[in-house]
Amino acid sequence: MNMPGLLDTEAIRKDFPILDRLVHDGKKVVYLDNAATSQKPRQVLDALSDYYERYNSNVHRGVHVLAEEATAAYESARDKIAEFINAPSRDEVIFTKNASESLNLVANMLGFADEPYRVERGTEIVITEMEHHSNIVPWQLLSQRTGAKLKWFGLTDEGRLDLSTIDEVITEKTKVVSFVLVSNILGTVNPVEAIVRRAQEVGALVVVDASQAAPHMPLDVQALQADFVAFTGHKMCGPTGIGVLWGRQELLEDLPPFLGGGEMIETVSMHSSTYAPAPHKFEAGTPPIAQAIGLGAAVDYLASIGMENIAAHEHVITGYALERLASVPDLRIVGPVTAEDRGAAISFTLGDIHPHDVGQVLDEQGIAVRVGHHCARPVCLRYGIPATTRASFYLYSTPSEVDALVEGLEHVQNFFG
Ligand code: ALA
Repeated sequence: MNMPGLLDTEAIRKDFPILDRLVHDGKKVVYLDNAATSQKPRQVLDALSDYYERYNSNVHRGVHVLAEEATAAYESARDKIAEFINAPSRDEVIFTKNASESLNLVANMLGFADEPYRVERGTEIVITEMEHHSNIVPWQLLSQRTGAKLKWFGLTDEGRLDLSTIDEVITEKTKVVSFVLVSNILGTVNPVEAIVRRAQEVGALVVVDASQAAPHMPLDVQALQADFVAFTGHKMCGPTGIGVLWGRQELLEDLPPFLGGGEMIETVSMHSSTYAPAPHKFEAGTPPIAQAIGLGAAVDYLASIGMENIAAHEHVITGYALERLASVPDLRIVGPVTAEDRGAAISFTLGDIHPHDVGQVLDEQGIAVRVGHHCARPVCLRYGIPATTRASFYLYSTPSEVDALVEGLEHVQNFFG
């Protein structure tokens, strides 16, 4: 199929051994669950096994050659990620275990901070109704523990943020505004600039959850003008167990640590401790070493293909999928129905067939999708549905996989027909 903008998926797919996997009596897997986790290229798998086979060691502690090599590779991964997100300094890149931990870290920094950052009774926290639970629950906990008020932006019927009352939602009392850049359930790409402008007017900090953005489009933390950006490694060709929190250097200097332990200190006595400078102040204990090195290899891989090219590929695939899905009787897209300002996760309902049944019959055909509330239950409540089926695409997704999905859905309808 000749569609301008598509990547050379034939070549790319050779890098992903799992895409040749046969399931259910010899059916080639059609992997459309990339918003849950992406597959990993050979380059990342090799970086992981190379670390364990040749220089497995703890970091920042040893004087022997293996420890030096492990430390150099771990810190080099930080350099690669800083470059990948255009961070002004490598010291602004904190390794965590996932985006949830990154977001919990910010919430706790702000709960324990001194003025002017402290979130407390009389102040307000703003989120949105389209957040993943990982960007709701940490703020609910902070609100419950401090007495700060939690507010949020609602959603339009089309699946976009309703910013019509932005001046009433973000006020002089707002300390922090935390929102998702690309929704994992609706696919919506949010208007960062408008939110950042209003937050800056009132002096609120801005936190961006870029979990579904970092894998799919160029991410420039300076252009975003946010104060913190969180994302996870396993959705962007990296291993599980590694996430990133980027934060502005002056904030990281001023804000207190959350987890205490080895590696995050300068000196310790039985009475008190002083802390290492960022990022180490926020990386207590032995870090996820192999995982950070694997994520370094993942961003090398993505950069070699080019994030602009990946975004363009997914834009074409998403447009094609939306067009084809629109032809399926009784299928309702939950989220924007065109590819404009939209990511590559497409949620839908199919008549009154329960999404779990849809997912199961698709699986029998080798097609892997996610079903449920996608850890974004308030979105399902907003649209009056218990769950959705979600197909999500990535750099190796092809138009023929979209066709397989549409045929699979026809089969589901015949099965329950
Ligand atoms: N956040 C992941 C998803 O949307 C797990 O599926």
